[in-house]
Amino acid sequence: MSIPLSQRTDMTVFMNGAFVAANEAHVGVMSHALSYGTGCFEGIRAYWNDQAEELYIFRLREHYERLHRSCRIVNIELPYSVDELIAITIDLVRRNNLRENCYIRPFAYKANEIIGVRLNDLDDAFLIYTVPMGDYVATTGLRCGVSSWRRVDDNMIPARAKISGAYVNSAFAKSEALMNGFDEAIMLTSEGHVSEGSAENIFMLVNGELVTPSASENILLGITRETIMQLARRELDCITRERQIDRTELYVADEIFLTGTGAQICPVIEVDHRPVGTGKIGALTETLQQTYHEVVRGMRPEYRDWLTPVYAKSHTKADHAVTAGKAASNGHNGNSAHNGHTNGHAKTRSGGKARTR
Ligand SMILES: Cc1ncc(COP(=O)(O)O)c(C=O)c1O
Repeated sequence: MSIPLSQRTDMTVFMNGAFVAANEAHVGVMSHALSYGTGCFEGIRAYWNDQAEELYIFRLREHYERLHRSCRIVNIELPYSVDELIAITIDLVRRNNLRENCYIRPFAYKANEIIGVRLNDLDDAFLIYTVPMGDYVATTGLRCGVSSWRRVDDNMIPARAKISGAYVNSAFAKSEALMNGFDEAIMLTSEGHVSEGSAENIFMLVNGELVTPSASENILLGITRETIMQLARRELDCITRERQIDRTELYVADEIFLTGTGAQICPVIEVDHRPVGTGKIGALTETLQQTYHEVVRGMRPEYRDWLTPVYAKSHTKADHAVTAGKAASNGHNGNSAHNGHTNGHAKTRSGGKARTR
């Protein structure tokens, strides 16, 4: 039986500017985010490569750029730049000496212990924890059901921000799917167009064209989604079309797959009890799944820019120069396509405190 993180003395958590033992990382019972879901977070994966004896964090910079964007939407002031967050994360993973596939969860939230719902004039707090993690959902072929729960609209809870409270919407859909005997839910927008899974973006192959719902379909702009679009273009010369998708297009698609940091690349073999294509994993899905598997584990040198090695014995001078240049120009909401390596000896603001007012 695994011990809950909150009881572990052998794991470290980064919380409000300090590295503390996991069993000492407390959140007050009246915390605003606990009552009202007023926080935003990231889900980041790191993959262990046995041969290289290295742990690679996948697209760390892009995750922290998205966290900065989420925080802007939710009125949370993050006290760290993207570069600082990268350095803190490397330091934390090293302290926990993780040498297996794992998950990194940064969480920025409204911390006041008060009754009263709002976003302004509150204190923000920030933490990061890490846990070992295998597959989140089966990657062998999912049976999905279109949910009776609609995806939250941009004017309700904006899906482009990864807001903790919005996951109640995902939880309703996922549980309904599971209780109805499906593996995963596909949610529609309030207008009835395909949006996304409970924690995954969706792609379909139809008439030889790869299609995914566009940004305005109340989706989280997934980092895996963008990765797959790049892999499809670079590896298969296949351009992804972003457009509105009708529910019944799913019934006649040749292939469907879901993408997400947790879920990775999941083939969908059935939607609403109708087989997708042949009812087996499609060729394009299989190729992309295999390529992704290799890319995230550092087996494809041409995509190494997406990986942050945690234990790299010595980063080269060039790496230091890249990091220094990025830090100088400040990585705050930049839209870089590449993940600059950080100094292995992570600088942290261990004495620093989250903003107080
Ligand atoms: C609602 C939702 N959509 C899509 C995704 C996929 O995003 P990413 O690929 O950045 O993990 C997630 C991931 O957690 C999610 O929660």
